[in-house]
Amino acid sequence: MRDAFGNPQSVLVLGGTSDIALAVTRRLVDARASTIVLAGRDDAALTRSADELRAHGATKVETIIFDASSPKSAAATIEESFEAAGGSIDLVLVAVGLLGDQTELDNDAAGTANLFEVNLTWPAAALAALRGKLVAQGTGHVAVFSSVAGVRIRRANFTYGATKAGLDAFTIGFAESVRSQGIKVQVIRPGFVRTKMTEGLSEAPFTTDIDTAADTIVKGLSSSSAVIWSPPALQAVYLILRHLPAVVWRRLPG
Ligand SMILES: NC(=O)c1ccc[n+]([C@@H]2O[C@H](COP(=O)([O-])OP(=O)(O)OC[C@H]3O[C@@H](n4cnc5c(N)ncnc54)[C@H](OP(=O)(O)O)[C@@H]3O)[C@@H](O)[C@H]2O)c1
Repeated sequence: MRDAFGNPQSVLVLGGTSDIALAVTRRLVDARASTIVLAGRDDAALTRSADELRAHGATKVETIIFDASSPKSAAATIEESFEAAGGSIDLVLVAVGLLGDQTELDNDAAGTANLFEVNLTWPAAALAALRGKLVAQGTGHVAVFSSVAGVRIRRANFTYGATKAGLDAFTIGFAESVRSQGIKVQVIRPGFVRTKMTEGLSEAPFTTDIDTAADTIVKGLSSSSAVIWSPPALQAVYLILRHLPAVVWRRLPG
């Protein structure tokens, strides 16, 4: 149940060791979220994140293990997460994601398939599993990490971009399908953020740090926007970039 000010009290993070999602969750704990479920693949890293959130003020933090390379596990992960939270969850952050190395993926069929499983198939299956839970609650809020990489595909990361384009489209359809049932669904489209995912890569224009991205996302979560752009200026930038001729688009940095 949200508190009297509409702040979520229970939060599930799918991708519970994500730098950005954890920074968002810390802010939600500051705003009185007390029950947090972190689901991820790395037990030790999840335990460290859980300890950090407890030290930050969360009263109940549970961890769940899953591997997004096995999309059939998604329904069981959602089931376990609701049980761990005590039966209901106010906000679900879907942050699981893998960038991959495009130069390797170019000739790697198994790696390409895995990227689609982790970034698209598992999250889509998780959303399908969430539907019944949220409809039964009669309320709920889901925010899914897409990327500007999916808005217009670049040669440099086209496999990742394609997975995010698919997830973005699926999430928008999912949002429409639960809108009349009192469930809010948002797409988050960050630009380049300095996290462990992007460590060592050359920065793109409009790069932000984790805290700036988290502040923007938290603000977006309390808005009625269907899409949260981070930083917000990227919404206008991509309005133009989307329509650039391919010959110009290819030459842009980032
Ligand atoms: N950083 C950026 O510039 C940027 C830009 C646009 C969108 N995004 C998206 O924002 C989200 C959060 O990214 P981030 O920057 O916070 O990166 P991050 O710290 O690397 O978070 C990614 C999360 O996905 C998890 N994950 C990856 N493969 C998995 C698997 N097979 N099974 C289960 N979990 C798996 C990671 O777990 P481990 O910690 O165990 O690896 C981690 O919890 C991602 O969806 C990302 O695609 C990021």
